[in-house]
Amino acid sequence: MSSQFLYQYLVNPGIVGNPCPSSRTLCCAVARSVLRNNPRLIAEWGAGQGHITRALLSLMQPHQRLVAFELLDIFVRDLKRIADPRLSVIHADLRDTHHYLAELGLQTVDCICSSIPINNYQSTARTDFFQDIKQILQPGGYYIQYAYLWRYHRPLLLRVFPRVETKFVFANFPPAFVYSCTF
Ligand SMILES: C[S@@+](CC[C@H](N)C(=O)[O-])C[C@H]1O[C@@H](n2cnc3c(N)ncnc32)[C@H](O)[C@@H]1O
Repeated sequence: MSSQFLYQYLVNPGIVGNPCPSSRTLCCAVARSVLRNNPRLIAEWGAGQGHITRALLSLMQPHQRLVAFELLDIFVRDLKRIADPRLSVIHADLRDTHHYLAELGLQTVDCICSSIPINNYQSTARTDFFQDIKQILQPGGYYIQYAYLWRYHRPLLLRVFPRVETKFVFANFPPAFVYSCTF
């Protein structure tokens, strides 16, 4: 377990959401779900220390691009150590995604890969969050979110997305669901 991750969780529990980063198995499951439709441009929300980021990069093709958002500067420092021309690291709140995509000359993305602890958002903030997703995704785009066992998000996601596929990953602390959501 990363002591830095644990420390950040103890200091910012509502933001970090879990005392340890995603396991290798969960990272691979998320990365495979993200890449299965060959997205050209991916936004990662809540990249943390880059566990899912690295899993994505290891499976991505040269033409694919990843823009990773992270709020905490200590994690952004870790992310910036990943030397890969397909990756852009943005130190910002995911709610400013539009603004930062525009700075990169981009408008919408094919896929959003989210590790955000959405349960920790108030319900109005959550509604705004989901409205933003619709505007950031290309038509035909999709949203991948994982959530821990005791935070079953499918009913919440079905309020926004007509189709939500669920995969269960046992080998993680805690075990988690990976949701693949499409319009
Ligand atoms: C559960 S951790 C996941 C970290 C990593 N992706 C993983 O799976 O191991 C959630 C991450 O989301 C980040 N985060 C939370 N709210 C955020 C926001 N509004 N904008 C950007 N990042 C945020 C936290 O700082 C934390 O790194």
